[in-house]
Amino acid sequence: MEKKNFFESIYENADHEDLAAIPWATLAPNVYLEKHLSQHDVVSGKKALVIGCGLGDDALILEKHGYEVDAIDISPSAIALAKKRHPESKVDFHVGDIYDMPESSIGKYDFVYEGLTIQSLPPKDRKTLVSIIVSLVIEGGELLVYANTQNDEDSYGGPPWPLYDDEFKLFENEGLEKVHEEKEDINKPIAPYHCCVLYRK
Ligand SMILES: C[S@@+](CC[C@H](N)C(=O)[O-])C[C@H]1O[C@@H](n2cnc3c(N)ncnc32)[C@H](O)[C@@H]1O
Repeated sequence: MEKKNFFESIYENADHEDLAAIPWATLAPNVYLEKHLSQHDVVSGKKALVIGCGLGDDALILEKHGYEVDAIDISPSAIALAKKRHPESKVDFHVGDIYDMPESSIGKYDFVYEGLTIQSLPPKDRKTLVSIIVSLVIEGGELLVYANTQNDEDSYGGPPWPLYDDEFKLFENEGLEKVHEEKEDINKPIAPYHCCVLYRK
């Protein structure tokens, strides 16, 4: 799969009057992210990053919670739509490739949110992606990962390719501590579960 063209073509060809038709778009913040933020005090002067921000709703809720937010997506059309949908926002929405992050982003973020992007990228890249994502979190910072998951004995095809438990463990292998995990049965044709895990560095 040509990763840039696949996502860009979906956003580029999306009906602007019906953005919810984009397969993964909910036009709302991720429920686990929203719940996590609602359980914590509003912050000030802390930096957050949203990876594969799509239409921008996760970045927006982080901004409302007080974070200075960078939000990257490989798709220029997604970034244009996010900016158009959130014109008042100070979120720094910009085109960016998680495979090619600038040196200045290493250890920069107090909070990193990744939802449904790892699973959209080739499974052979999991270790590399986890290593990059972990490198972006400051010591003591947090990472929230949301993905579809599957059992060890399952072999769901992709894209998206649901994560296995062992692949979630890669974050711990990279030195993060698992703080909290929520798993939900979804029994969908693309995956049996949703999983959301909070890590601390
Ligand atoms: C399944 S969508 C999820 C979008 C959003 N996180 C959500 O939950 O609605 C995956 C997103 O990752 C973006 N993406 C794909 N490859 C990427 C890359 N290499 N770097 C940054 N973003 C990427 C896509 O353009 C797309 O917006």
